[in-house]
Amino acid sequence: MSERYYAEIVGTGHAVPERILTNFDLEKMVDTSDEWIVSRTGIRERHIADENTYASTLGTKAAISAMEMAGIGADDLELILVATVTPDMPFPSTAAIIQKNLNAPKTAVMDISAGCTGFIYGLSIVDSYIKTGIFKTVLLLGVEVLSKITDWTDRSTCILFGDGAGAVIIRATLERKGILGTYIKGDGRLGGLLMMPGGGSQNPASKESVDGRLHYLKMSGNEVFKFAVQAMGEASTTILEQTGLKAEEIGTLVPHQANIRIIQATAKRLHIPPEKVYVNIDRYGNTSSASIPIALDEIRSNGNYKAASPLLLVAFGAGFTWGSAAITW
Ligand code: ACO
Repeated sequence: MSERYYAEIVGTGHAVPERILTNFDLEKMVDTSDEWIVSRTGIRERHIADENTYASTLGTKAAISAMEMAGIGADDLELILVATVTPDMPFPSTAAIIQKNLNAPKTAVMDISAGCTGFIYGLSIVDSYIKTGIFKTVLLLGVEVLSKITDWTDRSTCILFGDGAGAVIIRATLERKGILGTYIKGDGRLGGLLMMPGGGSQNPASKESVDGRLHYLKMSGNEVFKFAVQAMGEASTTILEQTGLKAEEIGTLVPHQANIRIIQATAKRLHIPPEKVYVNIDRYGNTSSASIPIALDEIRSNGNYKAASPLLLVAFGAGFTWGSAAITW
């Protein structure tokens, strides 16, 4: 009988820019208030990249930390997979740029565009590659520099986002642990609710596209909010059914950090108490595909991290996409 592999996370890392933008700073930029932002979103501050920091800059730093924790070198990597909606450029992929920075010439490289669900999509792809024996050691990243596509004159979006990167090293193991299951879904009919319309083949960069502010993120916040609550609930219950785990067995719920009210609604639906819900949105804002791997690195850096297991990861995002994963350390 052939060997059955499982995909285990053996290293984590994250990186955020040094500069912090607080709600009080935003009060000076647009018509908003700390009180409004905290009560509607749970965000207090976010990290913002300078002009010389790109997705690959943060991704490379996070990758180096994850490789150190895993005790592996660049030569061990077989695939670099980057989830991002803010790549350094349309091509080459940010994965290829990170490969060059890490000096890991033997790897396959690709980017995934699945909005804030990108890291969960990545886990699902890596799990399949490892289970089928195609790759044994993979670097998966969620990397975003959303500040560069944020319209800093639009108070309904500019208060929400932050920059950051999270990385994990995933290796094949014969023990039944690591990724227990993944679930991913999409509905392109809702794509117009959250998009950056400029810069692709539909609206290539032109004077008109710049004047029309098409190179900024556009969002119908209220409709996204309603969809998110429903999708996060559905993805969470589906992964529990699929893996046979009960909600009360979950050690930590790690939701995508988009809005504290969406996080609380998801936890309430699952009857998971607040002390088991990981929240760092107050410090980072919404870092899209980076939010879950940043959280994983913070959890893993805690000496008692094994008590946090099993973890239920759940996200939604542009596309629309949504999905979930159950993992153990
Ligand atoms: N400061 C003060 N007032 C504001 C601000 C602000 N920053 N932004 C909007 N308002 C006002 C609105 O103009 C509106 O005023 P009005 O009633 O006079 O018209 C009022 O506040 C309420 O606006 P809503 O949009 O209804 O506020 P809501 O409670 O829905 O909160 C929010 C807005 C925070 C954006 C919420 O809808 C949300 O979190 N949506 C989900 C966003 C999200 O998760 N996006 C995911 C992105 S993922 C990715 O893939 C990148």
